[in-house]
Amino acid sequence: MYGTWLGLAAQASQRVGNESWTLRRGEQVTLRAAQAEDGAAMRGMVEGLSRESRYFRFLTGGRVADGIVEGLVRAGADGVALVVTAPGADGGTEAVIANGQFVVTGHGTAEFAVLVADAWQGQGLGRRLIARLLQLAQAAGVRCMRGDVLSENRRMLAILRGLGFSCRRNPEDSYLHEATLALGAAAANIATRMPADWAAAG
Ligand SMILES: CC(C)(COP(=O)(O)OP(=O)(O)OC[C@H]1O[C@@H](n2cnc3c(N)ncnc32)[C@H](O)[C@@H]1OP(=O)(O)O)[C@@H](O)C(=O)NCCC(=O)NCCS
Repeated sequence: MYGTWLGLAAQASQRVGNESWTLRRGEQVTLRAAQAEDGAAMRGMVEGLSRESRYFRFLTGGRVADGIVEGLVRAGADGVALVVTAPGADGGTEAVIANGQFVVTGHGTAEFAVLVADAWQGQGLGRRLIARLLQLAQAAGVRCMRGDVLSENRRMLAILRGLGFSCRRNPEDSYLHEATLALGAAAANIATRMPADWAAAG
């Protein structure tokens, strides 16, 4: 029943403290639950996206609506929203450099999405973020993670397949792939799908 998962996702989110992650270039970044106060920094990140990244995540090359950006940092009772932050270049205000979230949509299925700022892509951040979302979803009792991925988004599809997702072209929309992964007791332990450097995460 849908109500079973309401609140569990929020509890899982609350268990996320400040996690220090070391990226391939050696930089230290912080993963934590997103807060409403991250809205301005999130808008800054979205504004700085390349046209391709914006299209891959939001299916638009234009301005992303305020409500959508606010939704990236507002999890609600039935979801989890995470941000990864890095210290400001001048040592000042921290910048949001990545976002990951899922929302339980009913029957134990959660819809997820991730976004990594262009300058921070290719360092293992996206894969680790998705793996962390999977852990939290499993802790919340989610049975199936699913996401829609543009068929041309080869990097995302490669990452998801590597994490055990089944990715198949949407028969009703050839531009989209549907990615699904069963979680729960019947599924293999999520830890076995973690990036090799997961244990190094502080
Ligand atoms: C997709 C995205 C989340 C991936 O995050 P990332 O931090 O760049 O990716 P990672 O560094 O974790 O992983 C990259 C992996 O993809 C692989 N990869 C890179 N480019 C690839 C390509 N063109 N085709 C296939 N695999 C590719 C790399 O080999 C790497 O694997 P490795 O970790 O084993 O070396 C990020 O690029 C992004 O936010 N893109 C724009 C928005 C988006 O597409 N969001 C997903 C919407 S569904």
